[in-house]
Amino acid sequence: MGCRDIGGHWPESATAWAEGRQRAASEGGAMSQAIRPDAIYALGYTDEERQRLTEQAELFRSCTSRLLQDAGLGPGAHVLDVGCGVGDVSILASSLVGPNGSVVGIDTDPRSLAFARERVCERGLTSVTFTEGDFREFVSPRLFDAVVGRFVLMYQGDPAAALAHLAGLVRPGGVIVFQEQDFHCPPIARPEAVDTWCEALERVTQVFEASGMHTRMGLGLYDLFVEAGLPPPHMHIDVHVLTPADALGPKVAAHTLRSLMPIFERFRVATQEELDPETYADRLLADLAASRAVLGWPPLVGAWTRR
Ligand SMILES: C[S@@+](CC[C@H](N)C(=O)[O-])C[C@H]1O[C@@H](n2cnc3c(N)ncnc32)[C@H](O)[C@@H]1O
Repeated sequence: MGCRDIGGHWPESATAWAEGRQRAASEGGAMSQAIRPDAIYALGYTDEERQRLTEQAELFRSCTSRLLQDAGLGPGAHVLDVGCGVGDVSILASSLVGPNGSVVGIDTDPRSLAFARERVCERGLTSVTFTEGDFREFVSPRLFDAVVGRFVLMYQGDPAAALAHLAGLVRPGGVIVFQEQDFHCPPIARPEAVDTWCEALERVTQVFEASGMHTRMGLGLYDLFVEAGLPPPHMHIDVHVLTPADALGPKVAAHTLRSLMPIFERFRVATQEELDPETYADRLLADLAASRAVLGWPPLVGAWTRR
């Protein structure tokens, strides 16, 4: 039961897109991050997706926290969190910069920002504020000590230009920190991965590719930072390990399938019946237990540098 190519039914547009991507990659090496239209935001903007983002943030909180600390985020820093969603990275950053620091989160989605504001209000975090807009057009009279972002460059049509713009918002000597996923690393598993996981992951990767997302952004961060004119970044990889005793990981996986269902169907990559998000977490846990398997989530790659 190792991971295998499940083929699947790609729509014509997705097939053409993937062929173009293949061609670009063979012609230009790192061209998988070539300029393209912005990705469709495949996960959507529903309340259920906002809830999933908070669950996912819990899964990745410790590795994002480590990355921000490695990058030197500390008390008193003035931070910009780009593509902040419902505010999890902003809240995490505020715990590192403390009451004398500040965090500004920016996102295009007003309802996510309303949810983020409620969350910081409940926590009494007066130094965290949110602003609506496209961060590629964001200007600020005051330079930031740090720009941070998680799962956000993957969606930009021209991520190098986006990063170069953001670098201009950071003071000399300040830090630029990103954490992005990589869907093309070989599976990490013992004794081997289970089909329930591999098949779903294959479909998720297909639909993200069809939506225009940079699915190799994680390890691509090195080239991207250099292309944006920044010093070569420090990098590390974190992998959440799913085990038969992991309650949160399978739930986040199931809720990801649920959020992606409309786009799975739109691109005809998978049907509700095939993926059955409502029973997915239980099925995955049962298969992990039956195979006594542990396996790695697609890696989170962190990169940071000083301006
Ligand atoms: C996958 S979510 C990640 C949210 C958050 N960073 C986290 O890790 O929980 C990506 C978010 O980036 C936002 N986003 C993507 N491109 C953006 C842009 N150019 N300007 C502002 N927000 C953007 C989306 O609206 C979405 O809320």
